[in-house]
Amino acid sequence: MWRHLLKSTRNLSSTTGSTVDTSELRHFKQFANEWWNECGDLRALHSLNKLRIPLVRDGILSVLQKSTQGTTPLKDISILDVGCGGGILTEPLARIGGHVTGLDANCDLIEKAKLRTKEKNLKVDYLCSSIEKYACDNKEKHDAVVASEILEHVTQKKEFLEACVQCLKPGGSVFITTINKTPVANVLGIFVAENLLGLLPKGTHQYEKFIKPHNLEKILEDLNCKTVLVQGMFYNFVGNEWHWCSNDSINYALHAVKLKN
Ligand SMILES: C[S@@+](CC[C@H](N)C(=O)[O-])C[C@H]1O[C@@H](n2cnc3c(N)ncnc32)[C@H](O)[C@@H]1O
Repeated sequence: MWRHLLKSTRNLSSTTGSTVDTSELRHFKQFANEWWNECGDLRALHSLNKLRIPLVRDGILSVLQKSTQGTTPLKDISILDVGCGGGILTEPLARIGGHVTGLDANCDLIEKAKLRTKEKNLKVDYLCSSIEKYACDNKEKHDAVVASEILEHVTQKKEFLEACVQCLKPGGSVFITTINKTPVANVLGIFVAENLLGLLPKGTHQYEKFIKPHNLEKILEDLNCKTVLVQGMFYNFVGNEWHWCSNDSINYALHAVKLKN
């Protein structure tokens, strides 16, 4: 009977629970004071901007058929950065004109991010919330939703992505960067990066939470989104440099568009 009760409680929490995994929030809280240290534990997120800023900028502009010229090509474009942390990607998107909302379930990180925008005199709306709570009051609000390096920290991916897509205008773009669920990602991304070389703190990633691109595409398709790009990304940890590549077996980026009907 106990086993039966336990099972039904687990089922209940997986159907009605939040997309926020509290152990993940605890994990990222430890980086609050060094979020902006470009040589610290989060250096790979800093260097990833070289790929993901053009990915988001050019993806949005090509869907909206606008020009990439000028210093503020994302002017008047509304972007939601989900799981923004301290704002490593959020800030540069605002600097090129985006009207950016940074959302993270970790209130400490959001406080740090807010302080920084004041210091830097930047305009970003930062909010501490889960995506599903935010989605309730912000349906079809944004031209683009960015979920960069967060999906591999979310257990309830369908619910998380559904809430992301709810916040998108029809015709809007969703951008995701994440880790493939392959043996090579398990060995290099976890065993080598965390345990052998100490490039990332131990426990940052769990293999079960990785997702294959075609499974991600399928979830998005069920949410009425068409995938227009899946591109592999390669991290050279010696030089702390990212490159686009044709092999998506470790890291990849995906761009999908919410269909209009
Ligand atoms: C690896 S960090 C990525 C930060 C940022 N996207 C970047 O790439 O610079 C993951 C972030 O996701 C946040 N997070 C994890 N699960 C979340 C959820 N369900 N809703 C909102 N934020 C979440 C964590 O607090 C953390 O700040």
